[in-house]
Amino acid sequence: MNLSNLTTRFFELYGNPDEKPKLFFAPGRVNLIGEHTDYNGGFVLPCALQYGTYLLIRHSAGPVMRFASTNMEFRTEIPLERLSEKVGSQWVNYPLGIFDQFRQMNIAFGGFDMLFSGDIPNSAGLSSSASIEMVTAYALTVMLNAGQLEMVDLVKLSQRSENEFIGLNCGIMDMFAIGMGKKDFAIFLNCRTLEYKRVSFVLNGFKLIIANTNKKRGLADSKYNERVAECQLAVTYLGQKMPLSKLGELSFMQFFKMQDTIPDELVRRRARHVISENQRVLNAVSCLQKGDIVQFGALMNASHESLRENYEVTGFELDTMVAAAQKINGVVGARMTGAGFGGCAVFLVTEKVVNAVIEQVGHEYEEKTGIIPDFYLAEVSDGVGEIINHQS
Ligand code: GLA
Repeated sequence: MNLSNLTTRFFELYGNPDEKPKLFFAPGRVNLIGEHTDYNGGFVLPCALQYGTYLLIRHSAGPVMRFASTNMEFRTEIPLERLSEKVGSQWVNYPLGIFDQFRQMNIAFGGFDMLFSGDIPNSAGLSSSASIEMVTAYALTVMLNAGQLEMVDLVKLSQRSENEFIGLNCGIMDMFAIGMGKKDFAIFLNCRTLEYKRVSFVLNGFKLIIANTNKKRGLADSKYNERVAECQLAVTYLGQKMPLSKLGELSFMQFFKMQDTIPDELVRRRARHVISENQRVLNAVSCLQKGDIVQFGALMNASHESLRENYEVTGFELDTMVAAAQKINGVVGARMTGAGFGGCAVFLVTEKVVNAVIEQVGHEYEEKTGIIPDFYLAEVSDGVGEIINHQS
């Protein structure tokens, strides 16, 4: 990202170069393991990426919000009194949802000039939307001196914004990873209590490859909400045996004994995924702590299998991508990452096979699906923050 071009663009759009904007950055995230567990009060293990969203922002002269992006054509000016209204299905709904949360907390603000610029591939399941939300929330706390808001508050309000304003019943993982991310660490988070631990994730001799299926994630949001509802149904059935509010409260053994309480085979499989995936996260963390990368990779493979068989969120493209990777020597583990239904897979590979994996998997994937994939090397990076001295 060329920051000086970004500043030039800002002044082209909004003029008045004497009033310097501040610059903020929020990363995207990749989840290593623990998929579809967050909204079930389970465990996750994501990390922040080097890709993310930049935001240049300054107070504006009038009571109006001006939004622009270097990624999207759509730009708009919204008077403060209309800030709680959604704008079709435009990207500005992500920052608008955050303003709405600040308003609900009775934090007063005037207008802002804003220019967003992101390098996270869109619709890839790397949390470009949570990255926009978190960069906006963090920037607002600085611009408004709202020091009473801690990082965990920004994480929670961004999730509420996504649930209430955007209408996706997502969990807290994405925002949490973006808020708490740290270079060379994965975040082991208990989504029920929000207790977390940073686990060292320095990959000596290994690399993380992110493989984008480039499959459009049509209907992904409605299917996602459908899974959320299926898990709630499982809780209702299991709750007849013991008090239960989230699947994540159950150990695998408890579930095993009670699973017949769920009459519906499909709902039982959904629950089986969540509960087994939870255990895999715990095992994965202990593998990392022992430096057992090979076993960690095996857990990634098992996670994908459960997401395919029990949770049914993978689909032809992700399955083809992951299977193509898993059969290559030097690929330690491979799985889909994020919500699924398209989007990205993540491979853990030995350093020396990186190029061969990209070439071989790329070739096989294109041959079988007719889609050209993209590959990125992930660097485990820091969470949201302000970039100081960017104009020098
Ligand atoms: C999306 C959601 C997250 C999480 C994952 C699946 O990324 O935003 O909250 O549920 O899917 O693990």
